[in-house]
Amino acid sequence: MPNNSNNRKVLLDEDGIPKEWYNILPDLPAPLPPPINPATREPVKLQELERVFAKELIRQEMSQERWIPIPEEVREVYRLWRPTPLYRARRLEQYLKTPARIYYKFEGVSPPGSHKPNTAVAQAYYNMKEGIERLTTETGAGQWGSSLAFATMLFGLKCTVYMVRASYNQKPYRAILMRSWGAEIYPSPSNKTNFGRSLYEKDPNHPGSLGIAISEALEDAVTHDNTRYSLGSVLNHVLMHQTVQGLEAKRQMEMIDEYPDVVAGCVGGGSSFSGLFWPFYYDVYVSKKAPKKTKFVATEPTACPTMTKGIYTYDFGDTAKMTPLLPMYTLGSDFIPAPIHAGGLRYHGDAPTLCLLLKKGYIEPHAYNQVEVFEAASIFARTEGIVPAPEPSHTIKYVIDEALRCKRTGEEKVILFNLCGHGYFDLQAYLDYFEGRLQPFEYPEEEIRKSLERLKSELPWIDQLPYLKNL
Ligand SMILES: Cc1ncc(COP(=O)(O)O)c(C=O)c1O
Repeated sequence: MPNNSNNRKVLLDEDGIPKEWYNILPDLPAPLPPPINPATREPVKLQELERVFAKELIRQEMSQERWIPIPEEVREVYRLWRPTPLYRARRLEQYLKTPARIYYKFEGVSPPGSHKPNTAVAQAYYNMKEGIERLTTETGAGQWGSSLAFATMLFGLKCTVYMVRASYNQKPYRAILMRSWGAEIYPSPSNKTNFGRSLYEKDPNHPGSLGIAISEALEDAVTHDNTRYSLGSVLNHVLMHQTVQGLEAKRQMEMIDEYPDVVAGCVGGGSSFSGLFWPFYYDVYVSKKAPKKTKFVATEPTACPTMTKGIYTYDFGDTAKMTPLLPMYTLGSDFIPAPIHAGGLRYHGDAPTLCLLLKKGYIEPHAYNQVEVFEAASIFARTEGIVPAPEPSHTIKYVIDEALRCKRTGEEKVILFNLCGHGYFDLQAYLDYFEGRLQPFEYPEEEIRKSLERLKSELPWIDQLPYLKNL
């Protein structure tokens, strides 16, 4: 099908579901700085993680193999919604009168409504194989919690979800969806864990944050037998499971003789964006077979600007400081972002692989406030028909700006982005936008500065660690 045909979408049949995930670790421009155990100040050892994660996931986390086979049982579940369609955004192009060609990979067709089950299914499968009975996790927007509830149900595991209270209040139907799949769910901070109680008792309406919910889920996992913790972003194995998106998208673009000049996605922890762009990074920088020097663009909220305003250092992944120290752009692990509607982007750090690539200049970051983001989301809904989730709407804002720039210059750029979730559980956010109640939260400079100062005074030795020195 040539790119000038009238087709709206490019479809693969079920045999087109990839048989291997792509692991970027051997192909990074520099070795990935290791996670650090704050007690020993040394790199974390594999065995230290076994109380928290399934063994196979830890192996994948550290693996230097470029291609990792996808188990047939996982591919079998992927068949429920994969391969996902690649759409040409023709009506948006016509509305903008742009010469750019805009494509989006739509992950909202999965039962929970986003890209998140691509890893949830794999994680539930490996835990089931290792005899684990229950998984705990956190969720911001509710997309990840629903995905893990869905995946654990399919493999006969129990699931406990700590949902950031701000999102729990904004999106009650997400919690009901998780319960429909059999999960138990608590607004976080909750009174179920010691850490949660320490905050809940001071303020039962505490809005919570992803960092706090992670602490609660971790505490629950390590204090109960046969229970493990599951993370929906940030870690290498999670991002790797998401590469089914980019691998499919590459084949779909090949089918129409296209190759993207730009690959764009939003970043909360970095999994949807990495899942789409890693396979193209492989073409451009590893096999060097890409016909173009594709640009990789990451978007985020001004209220939680990790990539554009964070500092690159070691920091904890959670607020109670239970995780190892991770090398990342961070706003400080006790920074609580404003309760913006893009709950999935309210995380104080980002994936270490993404941060390394950003540090080395492979990624161009952009930040937008939620008013301009919902304006872009509404244009998209009124042209393409799909109501997008608030998270990828940050990318839609970038795509619209870029397409309008192409209109001024006459460039026929090919733009591919990740529509990683639908927004049908986010309608309250749309209502708030239509009724003028959304705040354009900007960079909370003072709070971020204080949070990072606290980190430096608590762990002054971080700057002496050798691992970030030559990056
Ligand atoms: C629809 C959607 N997009 C993006 C994100 C951000 O996470 P990540 O950067 O890992 O894709 C989330 C997180 O919950 C999400 O629900």
